[in-house]
Amino acid sequence: MFLRYFIPAIFLLCFQTATLALLPYRPSPTREVLSLDGLWNFQPDNLTTPLNTPQVNVNMDLSLMPVPSSYNDVGTQTNLREYAGSVTYSRRFFVPESWKDKRVWIRFGSVCYSANVTINGEYVIEHSIGHLPFGTEVTQIVNYGNENFIKVVVDNILTDSTIPQGGTYISENGILTRTYSFDFFDYSGIDRSVILYTTSQTYIDDIAIITEISGNYGIVSYSVSISNQSENTILNVTILNENREVVKTISDGQTIYIENPNLWWPYTMHENPGYLYTLRADLLENGKLIDRYDQPFGIRVLQWNNESFTINSKPIYLTGFGKHEDSDFRGKGTDLPLFIKDYNLIRWLGANSYRTSHYPYSEELMDLADQLGIMIINEVPAVNLEIYGDELLENHKKSFTELYTRDKNRPSVVIWSCANEPTTQYTESGPYFEKIVAHIKSLDISRPVTAAIAQSYDDDNAGYYLDIISFNRYQGWYENTGKLDEITNLIISEAEEWHYKYNKPVMISMRLIL
Ligand SMILES: *[C@@H]1O[C@H](CO)[C@@H](O)[C@H](O)[C@H]1NC(C)=O
Ligand SMILES: *[C@@H]1O[C@H](CO)[C@@H](O)[C@H](O)[C@H]1NC(C)=O
Ligand SMILES: *[C@@H]1O[C@H](CO)[C@@H](O)[C@H](O)[C@H]1NC(C)=O
Ligand SMILES: *[C@@H]1O[C@H](CO)[C@@H](O)[C@H](O)[C@H]1NC(C)=O
Ligand SMILES: *[C@@H]1O[C@H](CO)[C@@H](O)[C@H](O)[C@H]1NC(C)=O
Repeated sequence: MFLRYFIPAIFLLCFQTATLALLPYRPSPTREVLSLDGLWNFQPDNLTTPLNTPQVNVNMDLSLMPVPSSYNDVGTQTNLREYAGSVTYSRRFFVPESWKDKRVWIRFGSVCYSANVTINGEYVIEHSIGHLPFGTEVTQIVNYGNENFIKVVVDNILTDSTIPQGGTYISENGILTRTYSFDFFDYSGIDRSVILYTTSQTYIDDIAIITEISGNYGIVSYSVSISNQSENTILNVTILNENREVVKTISDGQTIYIENPNLWWPYTMHENPGYLYTLRADLLENGKLIDRYDQPFGIRVLQWNNESFTINSKPIYLTGFGKHEDSDFRGKGTDLPLFIKDYNLIRWLGANSYRTSHYPYSEELMDLADQLGIMIINEVPAVNLEIYGDELLENHKKSFTELYTRDKNRPSVVIWSCANEPTTQYTESGPYFEKIVAHIKSLDISRPVTAAIAQSYDDDNAGYYLDIISFNRYQGWYENTGKLDEITNLIISEAEEWHYKYNKPVMISMRLIL
């Protein structure tokens, strides 16, 4: 077992050319951070007043918008709540003089859906998938020891080839209106934090970690990618335990053996769930520390076949939820009280997992899942795909590449979900999902892939390509409403049919909970 899993793991740790500062900012003695969260100037670019509305409805809303926050529910008018098109966010900020010898980066946690960023009138970056981070270097663009002006044009128009899909039409009262088939309100805006941070000229650009277990040993295969490396740079890698004590120090190599490791276990499966080690990557130039990155990781192994799914060789029984990430006023804006409340409720109910239905959740929630031992079925924003096409396929693959880049080292991520309720009754969905799953496997073979399917097992064409079959059923909710005594057998017999058809593990990915 050790050899079979270990060899592909090493193979997977080869990087593409990396100069993107792929790692999220983490506190470090060598990196500095400046938050751009707060009140930004805000202007919808084409706010249309409904035809025949009295003057009293003229928009009195402040031209200010909190970041992070969706903008929809912050105003008073329906035409902002249901706005379709572009809005412009802007603000001034200072960059300290002391940063002028550093490299400076900007990072957005998520903008829904597309963003076009300029600083001091110069183009910085464009990005077009919501719920995922993006950023770039701005060393040559910002003014040091002086004022800067950032402008972000945010557009929420969805099409047949965006992830997710959507459209627009002109409503009866003359307003450009969004349309989409999914059943939840689709918020827009700068939903997560915006930061500037520094790195040294030569810096740690990416870290990837895969763990295995063999006998009494945890095997940690790692790769650290360094940008702009010179002969004078040395990488020192240290493993720390949860008490911040050094377990191992290695200055060369790609594999670390840890004797009698504390394994990463899910909540409800162990008395000390969510055990995290830290891989500390220290970059030294002529003996001086120039960059440090502390990457948390857990030692755990996932395995699956046609009848079970195990963690550290114990079968997993997933109990949990398909969640949403929104709340009053801020919409999908990062909301720490909500995050802690939700985790308190999850633990109180004895749940051990949730699916990030129907889009990737914030990095704060994911960090907590790692620490608390909450297992995550991590879903790309491909909700209710209806029509398949090549451009959609490329955007869908890109959404996974970005999600994988963000979350690859997270022990909490135990399953990738490549879609929610796609039209898998169409035969063309088969080859489409075959390509999506092949793309996921080209990046990660250490986690199984599922999709939350709403079609019946007779009609479905996608299950052949998945590792685990998930089905959404609304017995007692949309169907047989309230008749709880009737639904158990219906669900059990359907789960059996899915298993007979595909000979794979089956789970329910959405159902009524009472
Ligand atoms: C993004 O902004 C730049 C600079 O303002 C502009 O030239 C470019 O056309 C914009 N891109 C899109 C897709 O609107
Ligand atoms: C502004 O809205 C009107 C009607 O709602 C629409 O016809 C027009 O295309 C929009 N313009 C832009 C630039 O989005
Ligand atoms: C690479 O590092 C050297 C030495 O620190 C620095 O002079 C140079 O500007 C860096 N190159 C890039 C592309 O940042
Ligand atoms: C780097 O690691 C080596 C091997 O453990 C150690 O001897 C050396 O002191 C470390 N260098 C620094 C500057 O920490
Ligand atoms: C798993 O597959 C094997 C080989 O096809 C089969 O013998 C076994 O019965 C399957 N397990 C279940 C639970 O269907």
